[in-house]
Amino acid sequence: MSKFAHETVLTVRHWNDSLFSFTTTRDESLRFENGQFVMIGLEVDDKPLVRAYSIASANYEENLEFFSIKVPNGPLTSRLQHLKEGDKLLVSRKPTGTLVLSDLKPGKNLYYLSTGTGLAPFMSLIKDPEAYERFDKIILVHGVRTVSELAYAEYIQHDLPNNEYFGDMVKDKLIYYPTVTREPFRNQGRLTDLFESGKLTDDIGLPPLNPETDRAMLCGSPAMLEDTCKMLDARGFQVSPRIGTPGDYVIERAFVEK
Ligand code: A2P
Repeated sequence: MSKFAHETVLTVRHWNDSLFSFTTTRDESLRFENGQFVMIGLEVDDKPLVRAYSIASANYEENLEFFSIKVPNGPLTSRLQHLKEGDKLLVSRKPTGTLVLSDLKPGKNLYYLSTGTGLAPFMSLIKDPEAYERFDKIILVHGVRTVSELAYAEYIQHDLPNNEYFGDMVKDKLIYYPTVTREPFRNQGRLTDLFESGKLTDDIGLPPLNPETDRAMLCGSPAMLEDTCKMLDARGFQVSPRIGTPGDYVIERAFVEK
C-alpha cells in the first residue's frame, strides 16, 4: 500500500490574506489521537511534496480538517492556498506527535497554549470528551498579532458550547482566552507576559500556574515554545521527556516553514 492516501478536498475557508483552513475526505483505515499530526501535500512533478500538519478535526469525525498559513514563496503553501473543492490531497497513513492527553499526568486545570497556526491541534483537542472528563477546567489561549488571525473564534465561542453531545461540558469547563499583540483587543500582549504579570489567570479567575494542579500543552513558534518552557520550568513543571512517558506538560512545534 502507498505511504499516502489520496483524499479529496471538500471545503476551503480563507480567514484572511495569510490563513486558511480546508477539509478533506478521510480514509476509513486512518486512526489517530487528538493532537497528532500527519504529512500532507501534493504531487508535484510526479513526486510527493509534503509537510507536517496537525489534524484540526477530532478523531471521531468523518472528515479531516487542516489549518494553514500561506508562506509567500513557500514550496507547498504557495500551491495549497489555491486548493478548491474536488482537488486531491496526499495524506500520510501514520499519524504521530507529542501533544496527546495520555502523556499528561492527572491534574485539575489543563492549559492549551498556542500562537498562530499552533491553534490547529487544539481545535481537535477541544472536541475530545476525555479531556473534559479528566480536568475541571480547560483553558485555550490563542496568541496572534492581529484580530483577523483569531481563526475559529466564532466556532469556539458559539458553536462548540451548543454541540449536542458535549456542549454542556464545554459551557461548564472550557475557557477561551484569545490575545492580540499588534492591535487593540479586549486581551492584549504575549501570553508569556500575561502569565508573568498574573493578568491572564486573574482575568479567568484561576490561581497562578502551579505544577501541583495544572497541566499544559504547547504549540507555537520556536521562540514562543522556548519562552513558555522557560516560564513553566521556572515554576517547577516537568516536560514529558518522550512519547509514552507522562509529564506536567507536552510541546509541539507549530509547523510553519512551508
Ligand atoms: P509579537 O507580536 O509580540 O511578536 P508569529 O505570527 O510571529 O508566530 O506570532 C504569533 C503571536 O505569538 C504574536 O502575537 C507574537 O507576538 C507572539 N509571540 C512571538 N514570540 C513569542 C514568544 N517568544 N513568546 C510568546 N509569544 C510570542
